[in-house]
Amino acid sequence: MNNRVYYDGKAFELFISEEKISDTVDRLAQDISKHYAHINEPLVLISILDGSFIFMADLIRSLDLEVSIQFVKLKSYQGTTSRGEVAHILKLQEDIKGKYVLVIEDIVDTGLTLEVFIEELRKKEPAEIKVCSLLSKPEVHNNIIDLDFVGMEIPPDFIIGYGLDLNGLGRQLPEIYRLVV
Ligand code: IMP
Repeated sequence: MNNRVYYDGKAFELFISEEKISDTVDRLAQDISKHYAHINEPLVLISILDGSFIFMADLIRSLDLEVSIQFVKLKSYQGTTSRGEVAHILKLQEDIKGKYVLVIEDIVDTGLTLEVFIEELRKKEPAEIKVCSLLSKPEVHNNIIDLDFVGMEIPPDFIIGYGLDLNGLGRQLPEIYRLVV
């Protein structure tokens, strides 16, 4: 583990340890398992790629529930600010009508991605849609989206690691690092 990593000429400092992430994922898994204990069907987890793939992989292995999983890819993230565009690159593979759906996000920054995506999901008439995000930047999105399960609230800093990237780099880091400004 390094205290600093460098990508694209930018320095990032250690922000959230592997242990803290793992504790947070376990806590979320417990809350989610408890919340859906009454449904007599698999919970449909929809992971928003690319950033949430590591979180999703860890989360599903800690859940005490039957799940079915789907992946969608909504946009590419460029640079250190949101682009404000949502493009569908990979669409839902299976029908969600009448199902319990939990959307899995890595981080909610402006909330724009989720806002547009949830609106589209509603048209497919699932029984229920809830959202789980490992990280949330409330100072940026001002709670425009209802987040049902949140791992950690963080300040509006740009971060990488544990699936999150800077122009495609840094996703493999087991810890989360924040941009040094
Ligand atoms: P939003 O639409 O602004 O909420 O952005 C959501 C997506 O932007 C997330 O799923 C991430 O992929 C990406 N993103 C937002 N903040 C960060 C960050 O600090 N580091 C890396 N990616 C981020």
